Amino acid sequence: MPRKIVVTSALPYANGPIHIGHLVEYLQTDIWVRFQKMCGNQCLYFCADDTHGTPVMLSARKAGIDPEQLIGRMHAEHKADFDTFGVQFDNYYSTHSPENKYFSELIFTRLNEAGSIVTRNIEQTYCENCTMALPDRYVRGTCPRCKAEDQYGDSCEVCSATYQPTELINPYCATCGATPTSQTSKHYFFKLADYEDRLRKLIAEGYAQQSVANKLDEWFTAGLKDWDISRDGPYFGFKIPGEENKFFYVWLDAPIGYMASAKNYCDRNGLDFDELWNGADYELYHFLGKDIMYFHSLFFPAMLMGSGFRPARKLFVHGFLTVNGEKMSKSRGTFIKASTYAKHLNPECLRYYYAAKLTDGIGDIDLGLDDFVGRTNSDLVGNYANLASRSGPMLTKKLNGRIGRLDSRGAELVKKLAAARNQIMRDYEDLKYASAVRTISTLADEANRYVEKNQPWATIEAEPEKTRTVLTAVINAVRILTIYLKPILPVYAGKVEQFLNVGELSFADTETVLEDHEINKFERLFERIDRKQVDTMIEESKDSGVPQAAQAAQEQTSLPPAGSPFKPECTIDDFAKIDLRIAKVIKAEPVEGADKLLSLQLDVGGVSRTVLAGIAKAYTPDQLTGKTVIFFANLKPRKMKFGTSEGMILAAGPGGKEISMLTADQGAQPGQQVS
Ligand code: MSP
Ligand code: ZN
Repeated sequence: MPRKIVVTSALPYANGPIHIGHLVEYLQTDIWVRFQKMCGNQCLYFCADDTHGTPVMLSARKAGIDPEQLIGRMHAEHKADFDTFGVQFDNYYSTHSPENKYFSELIFTRLNEAGSIVTRNIEQTYCENCTMALPDRYVRGTCPRCKAEDQYGDSCEVCSATYQPTELINPYCATCGATPTSQTSKHYFFKLADYEDRLRKLIAEGYAQQSVANKLDEWFTAGLKDWDISRDGPYFGFKIPGEENKFFYVWLDAPIGYMASAKNYCDRNGLDFDELWNGADYELYHFLGKDIMYFHSLFFPAMLMGSGFRPARKLFVHGFLTVNGEKMSKSRGTFIKASTYAKHLNPECLRYYYAAKLTDGIGDIDLGLDDFVGRTNSDLVGNYANLASRSGPMLTKKLNGRIGRLDSRGAELVKKLAAARNQIMRDYEDLKYASAVRTISTLADEANRYVEKNQPWATIEAEPEKTRTVLTAVINAVRILTIYLKPILPVYAGKVEQFLNVGELSFADTETVLEDHEINKFERLFERIDRKQVDTMIEESKDSGVPQAAQAAQEQTSLPPAGSPFKPECTIDDFAKIDLRIAKVIKAEPVEGADKLLSLQLDVGGVSRTVLAGIAKAYTPDQLTGKTVIFFANLKPRKMKFGTSEGMILAAGPGGKEISMLTADQGAQPGQQVS
C-alpha cells in the first residue's frame, strides 16, 4: 500500500527575500518529498508565506503601499525563487487567507472554552510619535550590562545579555528615534504549562529527534511559561474575536498557516481536510530549522491538542547554514539571495552540495566556497556526467544509437549498482542524504573505472560489437545512478531520461535493465564551475554600505535603485493587474467649483462609468464628446469633494493646457481590452 504523507516546510517571512540559508530547509524537504513520490507514495508538500506582524506593516508603511500589496509582491518573488531551485510545492499559500483566519479563530475559541486562555495587564513600551506599541526589536538603546550603545530591546549583540526593553539606558524608538513611554494594556495569554504532561508524552513517543528532545528537557526543567498571544493595533494580522484593537500575535497564526495551506489545497482538489489532518491514514511531518523549535515542539502541538486537532507525527529539525565556516554576512557578501545565486550558478549544484552535507542531525552545515567549486566539478561534471558523455556520443555516432545486451561482466557491474538500492532508500527516508551521496558517488567511481578498464574508445573501430556490449553496461550504470540522484537532481535526471529515451524513472526501475534499446543524442549535462563565477556572486552580494534597515526595506519593497529617475520598480505581475479598456466619452461637463475638472460619462462596452478628470484647461467639453479614450478600468474608486471618480483616463503632458488625451482610433470598440 502506498503511504499517504503530508509534509510542510516552515513558512518564510514575507518581509525579506529567500536566501541560501532558507534553501537548506526547502531543498532538504523537497528532496525528501521527491524521494517519497518516486517510491510511489502519495506525498503532499505544503507551505506559504508568513505574512503578519510588525516588520511587514512597517516596511509597507515606509514604501507607501498597503501590507497586502507588499505581501502580494513577496509571494510572487518567493514563488519564483522556489521554482528556480526546483522546490515543488503542492500548494504555496499565504497566512493572510480566509482559511487561516477561520482556523486561527476556531483554535483560539476552542482554547478559550477549554480554559487555556487568560488575560492580564502588562506594561508595554509605546511610541507616542508612531502611536504604536513597540516590539522588543523596535526599541533600541544602551545595554544595561556592558553599556554598548545601539542595542536591541531584548538582547545585546556585544555581551549577549538578555533583558526587558524597560531596562535599556536611553531607549529610543527604532523607527522614529523618539523616547518611548510605557503603557498598560490587556494581553491574552496561552497557558502552556497546562499541557506539560501531554507534551512530555508526545516527545517521549518520538515527536522529534533525540537532540531536540534533549533541548526540550532543558525547557521543561526551566518551567513552561504563559505565552503572550495578542498584540495591540496598529498591527498587520487577524483581529481577536470580540476585540476592536487587539490582534493575534504572528506566531499564533503562522503555524496554523500549515493547516490553511492544506485546507485550501483540499478544497480545490476534492480531498477531505479532516481526514488529511486528523485521519489515521495520513502521516504528517514538519521540516524546520532549530531556531524555531520552541514554537513547533511546544506551542503549536499544545494549541492543537487543546483544540481537538492532531499534532504531526514527527518534526524534522535541521541546523543552520554557515558559509566558509562563518555566519552568513552582508559585509562579507555571503548573505546570498536565491535570485543572486541563480544569476551566476546552476541551482542543481547547490541542491547537490547541500545534499552531500545534510544529515538527520541539528548540527550546522557549512558551504565552503572552494569546496563547492571542487565538488561540483569532480562529482557532477567529472563523475556522473562524465559517464554519460563518454558513452553517449560514441553510441550515437558510431553504433546507430543502439545499445545491445549485457555480458556477464556488465551484468555484474549493473547488479552491484542495483544492490545498493535499499541502503540508499533507507538513507533518503532517514534524512541521511550525505550518506546516500557518498554511496552514489562511490558507485559512480566504480562505473568510471569500468570504462577506464575497457577503453571503449580504443576498441570502437576494430571491435564495434564488443564495444557496444561495454557501452550497454555503462548506459545501464548511468540509468541506475540517475535513479538514485533524481530526488536531488531533477533537471539532470530529466535530461538523462531524454537521452536514454525512457519515461520517468523511479526506484522500482532498478529491478530491470535496459537492453536492445535506442537512445537519443547526448546533450551536455553539467558545465564546470569557475571560481570567478562564485567571486562575482559574492561581490554582488556585498553590503552596499546602506544601513541595514534601509537596505532591508529596499530589498523588501523594490525601491528604485539609487540614482534612478523613475518610480519604484514594478514587476510584470504588477502591471498585469492594471485593466486598460477602450471607452467612449458619452457626455462631458464642467464641475461646479472645480475649474480644472471635467466630469466625463464613459461607455465601457455597455458599462457606464463616471470619471472626474483634471483636463478642463486643455479641453472643452465639446472637444471630448464622442472621443475614444483609454480607460484605467479597475482603479479603486476615489471619493472627492465633487463626487466619486470611478477610474481614470490616460493623458500625457506636464499639466495645465499642455495635456493631451491618449486616444484610440475610431474603430476600437468600447470595452475592448488594451494590451
Ligand atoms: N516565519 C517563520 C517560520 C514560521 S513557521 C510556522 C520563520 N521564517 S524565516 O524566514 O526566518 O525562516 C524560515 C525557515 O528557514 C526556518 O525554518 C529557518 O530555520 C530556516 N532558515 C532561515 N535561515 C537559515 C539559515 N541560515 N540556515 C538554515 N536554515 C535557515 O522563521
Ligand atoms: Zn516611533
